[in-house]
Amino acid sequence: MREEVVVPKSYPTNLLNKDWSKRPCYFEKNGEKFLNEVHDMEVRDDDVWLITLPKCGTTWMQELTWLVLNDFNFEIAKQEYLELRSPFLEFEIDLYDGEGSILKNVTKLKSPRLLKTHMPLPLLPPQVWTKKPKVIYVFRNPKDSIVSQYYHVRRYGGASDVTPTEFAQNFINDEMSTHQHFLHVTEFYALREEPWIYYTSYERMKSDLRSVIQDVCKFLNKNITEAQMQQMLHHLSFEEMKNNTRTNHIWEAEQVRRIYNKKTEDISFVRKGKVGGYKDDLTPEVIDKIDIWINDELKPHNVTLNDLLLQNNEEFLLTIFTCSTLMMMTTTTTGRVKRSYSDQSVHGYMTERTCWWNEVCKEEFQSLFRCKCPQFSYCRSPGRYYNAYCSMTDTGYIWTQPTWDWGP
Ligand code: A3P
Repeated sequence: MREEVVVPKSYPTNLLNKDWSKRPCYFEKNGEKFLNEVHDMEVRDDDVWLITLPKCGTTWMQELTWLVLNDFNFEIAKQEYLELRSPFLEFEIDLYDGEGSILKNVTKLKSPRLLKTHMPLPLLPPQVWTKKPKVIYVFRNPKDSIVSQYYHVRRYGGASDVTPTEFAQNFINDEMSTHQHFLHVTEFYALREEPWIYYTSYERMKSDLRSVIQDVCKFLNKNITEAQMQQMLHHLSFEEMKNNTRTNHIWEAEQVRRIYNKKTEDISFVRKGKVGGYKDDLTPEVIDKIDIWINDELKPHNVTLNDLLLQNNEEFLLTIFTCSTLMMMTTTTTGRVKRSYSDQSVHGYMTERTCWWNEVCKEEFQSLFRCKCPQFSYCRSPGRYYNAYCSMTDTGYIWTQPTWDWGP
């Protein structure tokens, strides 16, 4: 669906020090009626707004938040479709355009409402900036969200004639999607310290779901017992959600078939659920291009992708702790170093440090960023040992191979 430039009816003037009138805004064609309704809608004090860019783990966070908000009522969660418990505002256009109020069901919904939207800050109702309901924002590495979007479009009958690489290439060449993407996330990132905003990332949910659940409980002033936490971790696991007919958007796909008489492809909504899965679908050339695109687009905002993914917040002490723990774990009683080919201990990273002798290229780096070796192709292979500098550049961690002194 093509988008067009739209002029917001009002701007969040007292949030962020920026000239909102110069901020480009886009929305799908003929969306004026919907935008007017959204602009004028009554925001409730106890609303929770889940705001994301597409394919950033929205559904995952939506189910998590709905359960926290509804006192872990797994019974209802397993009975009712998520889309009906927590409406997606833009999908109401597909459902109810031309039938009086597009938002009539949203208006009728019982409190506390959990509302999902992909709209950017300037298109939200102005009452969001005055009433300040709770807002949850989730971001994801664009390389993964673009690939996920490709399969999403395929699921709904589109993009059958392009490869994921072509899709990604078109995505980054498109001025609108570029603006949409980076303004959307950087504005919410800039507001992340506001008490009414909780900002997190898909990558963080993947690496530490328990902490994210705890954060959301705290954010929504809810207590959670250990038994409830265990239930949550099970219910929200990839395997459970893949098989959960109430959350994997079967209902939404049915509506699309009914309304548009469209064929849908049999691609599971909860598809791969990986950090760095894009590497299976995109060519190295297009990955490099996307890295440059991200880098260039983020420069004026003075943030890096790692900042936005919350992957720079580790503290020095944690680094020392992780280093010494790993040293202890890898050293045998005879003093020889025992090698492990799997290292997921990405915690505690500083911006730059020298890797230890025999250190494994961390799995997270292998999937999030490519391990680069300017001198030997040998150290490109995942999980191999080498001496290197791992330094963080604007595009992510780059591992370089500065010396000849590397292990087998
Ligand atoms: P992939 O297509 O990369 O697998 P959204 O809900 O914003 O549309 O995001 C969909 C993405 O979130 C999909 O990514 C989907 O697999 C992933 N996802 C949904 N539930 C998940 C879970 N429980 N664990 C991990 N990833 C999940």
